[in-house]
Amino acid sequence: MRVLLVTGKGGVGKTSVAAATAAHAARAGTRTLLVSTDPAHSLADALDVEVGDAPTPLAPGLEAAQVDARRRLVDSWDDIRAYLVTLLRWGGLDEVAAEELALLPGLDELFALADIRSHVDAGAADLLVVDCAPTAETLRLLSLPDVLGWYLERGFDLERTLARVVRPMLGRRSEVPLPDDAVVGSVGRLYHALERVRDVLLDTATTSVRLVCTPERVVIAETRRTHTALGLFGYHVDGVVVNRVLPEEASGPYLDTWRQSQARGLAAVREGFTGVTLLTAPLLEDEPIGLTALAELGARTYEGLDPTTRLSDGEPLRLWRDGDEAELSVALPFAERDDVDVFRRADELYVAVDGHTRSILLPQQLRRARVVAAGLADGRLDVRFAVPDASR
Ligand SMILES: Nc1ncnc2c1ncn2[C@@H]1O[C@H](COP(=O)(O)OP(=O)(O)OP(=O)(O)O)[C@@H](O)[C@H]1O
Ligand SMILES: [Mg+2]
Repeated sequence: MRVLLVTGKGGVGKTSVAAATAAHAARAGTRTLLVSTDPAHSLADALDVEVGDAPTPLAPGLEAAQVDARRRLVDSWDDIRAYLVTLLRWGGLDEVAAEELALLPGLDELFALADIRSHVDAGAADLLVVDCAPTAETLRLLSLPDVLGWYLERGFDLERTLARVVRPMLGRRSEVPLPDDAVVGSVGRLYHALERVRDVLLDTATTSVRLVCTPERVVIAETRRTHTALGLFGYHVDGVVVNRVLPEEASGPYLDTWRQSQARGLAAVREGFTGVTLLTAPLLEDEPIGLTALAELGARTYEGLDPTTRLSDGEPLRLWRDGDEAELSVALPFAERDDVDVFRRADELYVAVDGHTRSILLPQQLRRARVVAAGLADGRLDVRFAVPDASR
């Protein structure tokens, strides 16, 4: 099973490229499932057919689904939400504000993503193409398994600790509302589900990210930031699809000027995304709507390449160890020395790049190790550790 996450800035053509990739792969005989996790679904519009929450057959070897995130949210979050509301009201918030806060932003997308795991487990397809939400949302949501896991683990623990410590001091009236078994059970299930989907998404042999952009400076800049952040979160980006590239046959003075500007954009992509395969999709005269047009767009995008393979290699995280020395290497494409901050707290290493912070739970063998140096080279952050002798 291969999972392809298709993402990029709003409006660049994510849905079209995801659908084109799926249609093209299915034509070549790969059993393919196209899934949209973007709460603003538009697969049905691109395909020009009805697409439901469960996989809908479209053609031989091709199915599509638009996850009903609202429904997943109610199923998995409702009792947790109710508990959070009680807790927030106990903390002094009024009902409306508490209700508002208990719905963490991005949760609907998160539940939609959690569905990927069940599709992988069902094994009904060999290729899963995911039409993700635009850059900012997707990033937040892709990083949420980290954040939410941390929150759920420590947050709920904290509540219990708080109750134990604070309750005797406050007396009966101010008791911290404790989560009941149903809530604790829901949290456990949710945490488990997130962990399982994260295992799939961070398994670089299974999952690759394809970034979609257009050959315009602003779009390229944002796409590079997305690439850095994805590297930081451990995702493997194997291809960049530059969409809406003027085809050869388009000509005229106006178009020629535009083509020159696009050529500069393409050069910037070529320079900026070293190690990642570059694909181009032509600007079509008409919107690519319906399977035939999409499969054709897919064929022109991938040319001879097989969309299901890993288009380029690269390891998000690498660990090297030799006696009492170890080095942890994190892929951070495009990060500049000034943007990166590394610090250590207990058994976690924090890497902050451009406003995103990721905590890397250090492998067992590095938990007692000391950071001795950190450096940026060839798009990787290398952190050196001195490992204490276990026998002493
Ligand atoms: N190569 C292309 N040539 C012509 N039209 C295109 C091309 N790619 C996409 N389009 C059209 O551009 C519009 C936006 O494309 P699409 O919906 O795929 O973008 P998106 O990135 O998914 O947008 P959103 O961020 O809103 O989800 C659609 O009308 C689509 O048909
Ligand atoms: Mg879209």
